[in-house]
Amino acid sequence: MNEHPGLGKGLGRLPGRVAIVTGANSGIGRATARLFAREGAKVLCCDIQETVNPRVDSLIEQDGGQALFSRIDVTVQADCDRMVATALEHFGGLDILFNNAGGGVRKKIHEFTDEEWNFVVNLNLNSIFRGVRAAIPHFLKNGRGNIVNTASTFGLLASERYPAYCATKAAIVNLTRQMALDYGPNGIRVNCVCPGSIETARFRGFPPQPAAGFTDEQRARMANSSRALLRMGQPEEIAYGVLFLASDESSFVTGHALVIDGGQTIDA
Ligand SMILES: NC(=O)c1ccc[n+]([C@@H]2O[C@H](COP(=O)([O-])OP(=O)(O)OC[C@H]3O[C@@H](n4cnc5c(N)ncnc54)[C@H](O)[C@@H]3O)[C@@H](O)[C@H]2O)c1
Repeated sequence: MNEHPGLGKGLGRLPGRVAIVTGANSGIGRATARLFAREGAKVLCCDIQETVNPRVDSLIEQDGGQALFSRIDVTVQADCDRMVATALEHFGGLDILFNNAGGGVRKKIHEFTDEEWNFVVNLNLNSIFRGVRAAIPHFLKNGRGNIVNTASTFGLLASERYPAYCATKAAIVNLTRQMALDYGPNGIRVNCVCPGSIETARFRGFPPQPAAGFTDEQRARMANSSRALLRMGQPEEIAYGVLFLASDESSFVTGHALVIDGGQTIDA
């Protein structure tokens, strides 16, 4: 089943690597998990939702790749510890951590409850702290490791009625640089991607609900925000950027925020 027609045949760019992908059962995470597997990685697919049919691990197996699904809530340290332990036990190692799960709440800051604010901060920012804290000891022991975080163009620009999202995504961009500095001497690279408007079934609101889909008006507005290409992006167009950062092809790249946005950020 090719639900991401933009995914090409693998070229062996992640030979034998073990990768963790969070938020792997939808959107950008799902496309990236599939791409990583096509490129030769064994992928631990982590998500809180298991009911999407077909689940990402079965899609990967249909592709002839290796995957394991694990129900992981990235806001819980014990789950992140279990995530790393599962990769080590099941696949015998860990090379790549793609911290991708995220989401937001659209309202003005004075309308936020503590619960909503903490939900976004926990999901987008604290999750990276928790995932990295679990993975780094293993990377340090090995003298190598690769971390890619999903930020957003909304970590570089502001978006109306999106304060916690914009703040946490901006924090991810600078946390990426900060961690690159601390761990570069240990052979660990840390980068992030900043996607623009990507057509995914985003989870919105609190408690999170699957979006019913974009209205024509929303889609037109989001497409228009990709100033040059005038369309929304597809998840696999982000996945290829993540693959570059996660592979040896980017061996001299660290602390970088790779903007993949159809031109959203080039216009003053
Ligand atoms: N779609 C866009 O336009 C866009 C733009 C910029 C950045 N992003 C970022 O890309 C990332 C992926 O977004 P997407 O558009 O693919 O969204 P999506 O809703 O399609 O997928 C997100 C996945 O994360 C999972 N998830 C949610 N909470 C989780 C938790 N606590 N633990 C584990 N998994 C959890 C969801 O179940 C879902 O499967 C997010 O960080 C998002 O902020 C998306």
